[in-house]
Amino acid sequence: MAKTLRLLIVINLAFFFGESIHAEGFNKAGIATAHPLATKAGYEILEMGGNAFDAAVTVSAVLSVVEPYSSGLGGGGFFLLHNAEDGQSVFVDAREKAPSMADRDMYLDENGDVLRTASLNGPLASGIPGLPAALHHVANNHGSMPLYKLLEPAIRLARDGFPAYERLITALNVAKKSRTLSPKFKAVFMPNDQLPEVGQLIKQPELAKTLEIIASNGHDGFYKSFFTQKMIDEARQDGSIWLADDFKNYSVVEREPIKVNFLGAQLTTAPPPSSGGTTIATILNIISEFDFIEMDISTRTHLVVESMRRAYRDRAFFLGDPDFVDVPIKKLTSKEHASILAQSIDMNAATPIHEDDQLDEKYAWNEGSHTTHFSILDMDGNRAAVTQTINTWFGSGYMLPSSGLILNNEMDDFSAKPFAPNRYGLVHGEQNSIQPNKRMLSSMTPTFIESEKGLAILGTPGGARIITMVLLSILDYFEGGTAETMTAKKRFHHQFLPDVIRYEKDAFTEETITILESKGHTLQEISSYGNMQVVTWEKDSGDVSSSSDPRGIIEGYDIDFY
Ligand code: DON
Repeated sequence: MAKTLRLLIVINLAFFFGESIHAEGFNKAGIATAHPLATKAGYEILEMGGNAFDAAVTVSAVLSVVEPYSSGLGGGGFFLLHNAEDGQSVFVDAREKAPSMADRDMYLDENGDVLRTASLNGPLASGIPGLPAALHHVANNHGSMPLYKLLEPAIRLARDGFPAYERLITALNVAKKSRTLSPKFKAVFMPNDQLPEVGQLIKQPELAKTLEIIASNGHDGFYKSFFTQKMIDEARQDGSIWLADDFKNYSVVEREPIKVNFLGAQLTTAPPPSSGGTTIATILNIISEFDFIEMDISTRTHLVVESMRRAYRDRAFFLGDPDFVDVPIKKLTSKEHASILAQSIDMNAATPIHEDDQLDEKYAWNEGSHTTHFSILDMDGNRAAVTQTINTWFGSGYMLPSSGLILNNEMDDFSAKPFAPNRYGLVHGEQNSIQPNKRMLSSMTPTFIESEKGLAILGTPGGARIITMVLLSILDYFEGGTAETMTAKKRFHHQFLPDVIRYEKDAFTEETITILESKGHTLQEISSYGNMQVVTWEKDSGDVSSSSDPRGIIEGYDIDFY
């Protein structure tokens, strides 16, 4: 039985991952997601006449059910949308917010030291969820189909179950061995402490009911009802500081995306509270100060690393929730700023980090593929690039008993203390300190590229490394890359602190490694990371290609917990 199902799943994977459908009309549609059931549900909405935004709502909700380690209704996300009719792009910010009773020092002990797991485990680690608000908002303001229709596939999969698969089982196994999981979480995913087998149906009846509440009562059903109070009561019993007003006051924000001109093309990408757009803009602007196209690969890698170093330093010092702090977006994305940073680059030597920047030696290293991204292009040319998350694997490890929501642990994306590294080793200044109702800084970077040759829609999970993954795929696109090469691209990363280039096997030749070391760089090979989803459209041929990261469909994931 399990074997037959395994075969079916493999066939489905082969069929739906990175598959493009060809349809009459404008052109072709493409959907790339991290799970075949989400891809299939998205295509079904398009076939029913829905647009990319309708499909985005459906895919988002289905991923929330079938990828419980990555994202969900208990988390948040960013929806970058482009409307082909008016040519406008908008960034729907559904990032979680700190509860109103949150406090700058809430994760510090009496000596002022960071309580490392307090911002990661249990309901106190959780911000006010934003994804339910996004589903309602995107469907009502951008979609063409009723929300209840768009949520049907997710409701069905939650109620009737979806087949367990290797990656989920591995993640559950590691979670079981290494962290605290709430009783309801265990009851749903590993009753009697037994992991599911491949193909075994995972049913989430409470989550199905929650989706039904959103389907029939929309935003208010989730944020302003008896149901809301029940969630709050349960969370508070287990240590949360949530208040009814936190939910009542939660709303998504439509923000203007960051636009970057690069090599005559236009990038549309994530503004604060994402750090992605400004950081990518700074890096590309610095690179543009040099004749990098003519450079040999080792010299170019040095330049890219030095640009990453500077942009991530800016990220640490200047970025935060724009509704709370002044973020100098114009300056950070300006050519002038990049030109000043470029002048400080020595092409023969790695820039030593100034001693004032040696903030803390204990930087975390762990990053998996939790969080999820999907890209959609419909037959009218509407686009959606969506990255959504509950932060680390299975978020806070806590499931609300009556609603089936796995709560996020997004509070860890704030700086618990200025310049104390978070789970991703990222450091931040006061700009990203905890304040009531503030959104925590994110690295999620859904992005569009519009160039002479066509269009690309891309994004990935990967914590701090999201930004450099998206960057490297942008560079690949400009070197003639395709959806397949963009997702397969070998990756490297530098994030200012720690002062190390981390790279995937085969990202560099031996020669490049030697040259980088001779310039003073420290290198560390790490296991593969990321799960990028790309859709491209070629102007000349009209061809649409969808590609899912090969790392996402092979076994042997680097799954790690703190
Ligand atoms: O918003 C952020 O930047 C993080 N919470 C994303 C986490 C993530 O990508 C985890 N994946 N490895």
